[in-house]
Amino acid sequence: MSVRGKIFLAMGVLVVLVSAAYIGTTQGYLGSLFARYYTDGGGSNEGMISLEGVSQYILAEMKIKAFNMTLFIAGAALILGYWLSGLIVNPLNKLIRVMRRVAGGELATEVPIERADEYGQVGEAFNSMTGQLRDLMDNRKRLVEDVAHELRTPLAIIQSKLELIQQSQGTVKPEALLSVHDEVLRLIRLVDELQLLNTAEAGELTLNKEPTNLPMLMEELIELVQPEADGYGVSLAVSCNVDMPTVCLDPRRMKQVFLNLLTNALRHTREGGKITVCMQIIHDCVSISITDTGSGIPEGAIPHLFDRFFRADPGRGRTAGGSGLGLSIAHQIVAVHGGSIQVRSEVGVGSEFTVKLPLG
Ligand SMILES: Nc1ncnc2c1ncn2[C@@H]1O[C@H](COP(=O)(O)OP(=O)(O)O)[C@@H](O)[C@H]1O
Ligand SMILES: [Mg+2]
Repeated sequence: MSVRGKIFLAMGVLVVLVSAAYIGTTQGYLGSLFARYYTDGGGSNEGMISLEGVSQYILAEMKIKAFNMTLFIAGAALILGYWLSGLIVNPLNKLIRVMRRVAGGELATEVPIERADEYGQVGEAFNSMTGQLRDLMDNRKRLVEDVAHELRTPLAIIQSKLELIQQSQGTVKPEALLSVHDEVLRLIRLVDELQLLNTAEAGELTLNKEPTNLPMLMEELIELVQPEADGYGVSLAVSCNVDMPTVCLDPRRMKQVFLNLLTNALRHTREGGKITVCMQIIHDCVSISITDTGSGIPEGAIPHLFDRFFRADPGRGRTAGGSGLGLSIAHQIVAVHGGSIQVRSEVGVGSEFTVKLPLG
């Protein structure tokens, strides 16, 4: 039964009950009046007879009146019920129509918000839900486009190298396969990074936390990138002006974060430039900043730095840089540790990436 039907049924039952109660009460009242008149001794036999007649007459009159009144109340209930059920059912019907369109794939459909009551709130919640659904669909579409775009370049290089090898007919020299090997490694790295990002974004990244000596971890990383820095003619320095306590973190994941920040700084700092790593304790956080005297990042690019596949300098070419996933991964790993990454940069002066992690 529809909501409207149920309301009418409830009102019908109410009308019948009210009429029955009305007749019952009237009958009872006349009966008690009659009894009182009799026991008070105020009534003679004749009086009693005429009183009984009068009460019969009144009762019959009351029944007609009750019937008329029932009809009147039923009519009023019908109108009231129609209005009341409309109040409940009409906005629901509007919502159902929009829901059916959204279910049919028209995600841009929105419920018009015309009221501030509970229905308005349901409409707003529904609109915000479809908005989130639209964002998710857009994100998925963009991700597939980006991944296809990233795969195309290495695959095209592998294809053309293999065609050359096929055409050369002679024996294949190992050097000829080097670039193919590089591109395959690049693809493997891309797939690994995407998988890691996906796991982190789903909140499923598990950390193997342990008390870690941050200055030592940083020294290891500096040793790792020192040859590259020497090759670029860039100097590297670490400063830690406090006695750093051990910090509970996942050393493997945090190395990945700092390595990406250091590699980024190296790639964007010209010969003679400087990269400084500074560790300090600020309130209940440990702050690690990596500052370079490199090219800097345009102001408009800064809000997008942590977006997947974003490169502030796409002209640099894909071969020279990473996939554009490094900072998104770093952001996710730091977030899972309960920390944050901040960026300050000025074109032509340099950049500073600061990672803050909670102590304890
Ligand atoms: N220290 C830096 N100086 C200048 N630009 C930077 C620096 N760090 C990051 N960027 C910019 O941010 C972009 C995204 O960095 P990242 O996510 O690590 O991707 P990738 O290193 O793979 O390009 C880089 O392509 C670069 O344009
Ligand atoms: Mg990077």
